[in-house]
Amino acid sequence: MGTKQKNERTLPRRDVLGGLCVTGLAVPVASTSQIPDEASLIPPKENDVLVHSFGDDSGKVIRIDELAADTKQIFAWAMDPLSGNVRNGTRLNQVVLIRVDVSRMSEATASKSINGLVAYSGVCSHTGCDVTDWNSEFLRFQCPCHESQFDPADGARVVGGPAPWQLAALPLKEIEGNVGVAGEFEGRVGFQQPGLSPFGI
Ligand code: FES
Repeated sequence: MGTKQKNERTLPRRDVLGGLCVTGLAVPVASTSQIPDEASLIPPKENDVLVHSFGDDSGKVIRIDELAADTKQIFAWAMDPLSGNVRNGTRLNQVVLIRVDVSRMSEATASKSINGLVAYSGVCSHTGCDVTDWNSEFLRFQCPCHESQFDPADGARVVGGPAPWQLAALPLKEIEGNVGVAGEFEGRVGFQQPGLSPFGI
């Protein structure tokens, strides 16, 4: 345990908003020179759908049959399907999505999942890096900054490293074959800044 795994698909660092380590501000996503509109700052809410954050499929709605089980997580944003507003105005709205073998899922996690897919806040609770890495040996999210590990099959509880609390869970449901949001984040979204009060929502 603790051996950092090599990523098959590492996020383009320039796309990781605000950089991997942040200093406590809700960094606008599109550009630091743009002021995010109000709709983009609203956290994921019920009846939103998830869209890809990066790559060729950026902005495309994610289907419930995408992703193979127990492979590296992807990053997503919530989108209001009626207005098309993507909730990408703050990195605190970032979502990591992964498919987990349902036989390994805790009961509580299964209750928030759809078709083996589970979603969590993508911001590490330690000092706020993006949880971009995947430990393929132990099937865990791994933070690239100080190697905190989180178990996606069990509520993203902390299973290694200095992170002080689990990643907030985003309940999912199916919306017309797409990955939909069943409710708001459950748990604390944000991170602990050394010497300061926790930052987040
Ligand atoms: S910011 Fe994630 S382990 Fe430190």
